[in-house]
Amino acid sequence: MAFRKDFLWGGATAANQCEGGYDQGGRGLANVDLAPVGKDRIGVITGEQKMFDFDDDHFYPAKNAIDMYHRYKEDIALFGEMGFKTYRLSIAWSRIFPKGDETEPNEDGLKFYEDLFKECHKYNIEPLVTITHFDCPMHLVEKYGAWRSRELVGFYENLCQVIFNRYKGLVKYWLTFNEINMILHAPFMGAGLYFEPGENKEQVKYQAAHHELVASAIATKIAHEVDPENKVGCMLAAGAYYPYSCNPEDVWASRKNDRENYFFIDVQSRGEYPAYAIKELERNGIEIKMADGDAELLKNHTVDFISFSYYSSRVATTDPDLLEKTEGNIFASIKNPYLKASEWGWQIDPLGLRITLNDLYDRYQKPLFIVENGLGAVDTPDENGYVEDDYRINYLAEHLQAMKDAVELDGVDLLGYTTWGCIDLVSAGTGEMKKRYGFIYVDRDNDGNGSLKRSKKKSFDWYKKVITTNGEDLSND
Ligand code: BG6
Repeated sequence: MAFRKDFLWGGATAANQCEGGYDQGGRGLANVDLAPVGKDRIGVITGEQKMFDFDDDHFYPAKNAIDMYHRYKEDIALFGEMGFKTYRLSIAWSRIFPKGDETEPNEDGLKFYEDLFKECHKYNIEPLVTITHFDCPMHLVEKYGAWRSRELVGFYENLCQVIFNRYKGLVKYWLTFNEINMILHAPFMGAGLYFEPGENKEQVKYQAAHHELVASAIATKIAHEVDPENKVGCMLAAGAYYPYSCNPEDVWASRKNDRENYFFIDVQSRGEYPAYAIKELERNGIEIKMADGDAELLKNHTVDFISFSYYSSRVATTDPDLLEKTEGNIFASIKNPYLKASEWGWQIDPLGLRITLNDLYDRYQKPLFIVENGLGAVDTPDENGYVEDDYRINYLAEHLQAMKDAVELDGVDLLGYTTWGCIDLVSAGTGEMKKRYGFIYVDRDNDGNGSLKRSKKKSFDWYKKVITTNGEDLSND
């Protein structure tokens, strides 16, 4: 058998992409609520365009999303029916601390997640909780400039103290920051960073990243103190860079691009700024202000496991003639002529998952966890909401085979696998509903119309079989 007996099969979501209920239960407004569908989205999520409140000209899909806030029992029952061993979800910070800087948490928000975790346990589903999946209370954005301010470390620490204590015994697996490297590519969505004209963006991003890295180390420390059973992971938007050619210039370019992303995990897993990053920051005139004790915190509280999302590999070159870009998870890369692509232009590379798993395992020698992978596609349901999504089954089966090879043939230590968007939800990149990842179809369109009814797709039973056989049977019949 390729996978460990307690392999954590499941699915993943994020609060702002599925909960809705943005103003219910005392929840405060968050950066992620303010990303509209349409042409202004990219400017907003990259921190170039200011959108600190709703306006009448835009549609904001996260406000109601798929209404999981009210329907989580039905959804978790469906996950239970598929045999999920784990369900990855995120806590909305502004449900627990509506403004972010209060001293007392909001009981309604705490209770909501407590009930949700209990519901998971009814089906023997182990919650895997992302403490922040891109969200930051808007009050912290407006008053402190979000993660650019050192004060956020303390507010995040309060959040961690509260949730680790309250959910002791209910939650054991934690991720500190979703796709921590996303701060470089979508700084407002990823970390609440909005840039004033003329600001040195790189300086702001790396200082904010430092604050997140310290906050992550503090979270790891508290998690272990509160309950030695807790396991804390970092989370990387992964996908190995390939050199476009064997020209050493291309090889070097791919190495440098990989390091831009590995930097975060190097700190979280090895406990210090890597030499290449120190040099690169110096060269670029970026000065990181470190407080007394930061180096010790980073060194002494490294993560227990490495989690990551994988949608595609990437390509690097220095050849200016090869500028044909392809879409990707927020950051576009050079097009790889050997690969096909999804309807959204994301290139499909199952072997790239094996390569990425090996790269990460070679580099860190810690257990890995794939916490996002999947195909965003247009689904056409019949009148009962049933979708024949063989394309999704094929995509997943090929990636699972690659993952199996990494475990069975290469000896990678893998804790689990959660598909992204196990139930259809709002796309983070585009805000669309049309870009669906789920085993469960949700009747809702890009403009927010629809009954929100849930129905099983063909992939629902397929994934159930995969889990029942612990990944032995990946066939589609
Ligand atoms: C990851 C995020 O970047 O990719 C998710 O962690 C996101 O929040 C997922 O939804 C897929 O991207 P998209 O743009 O298709 O939603």
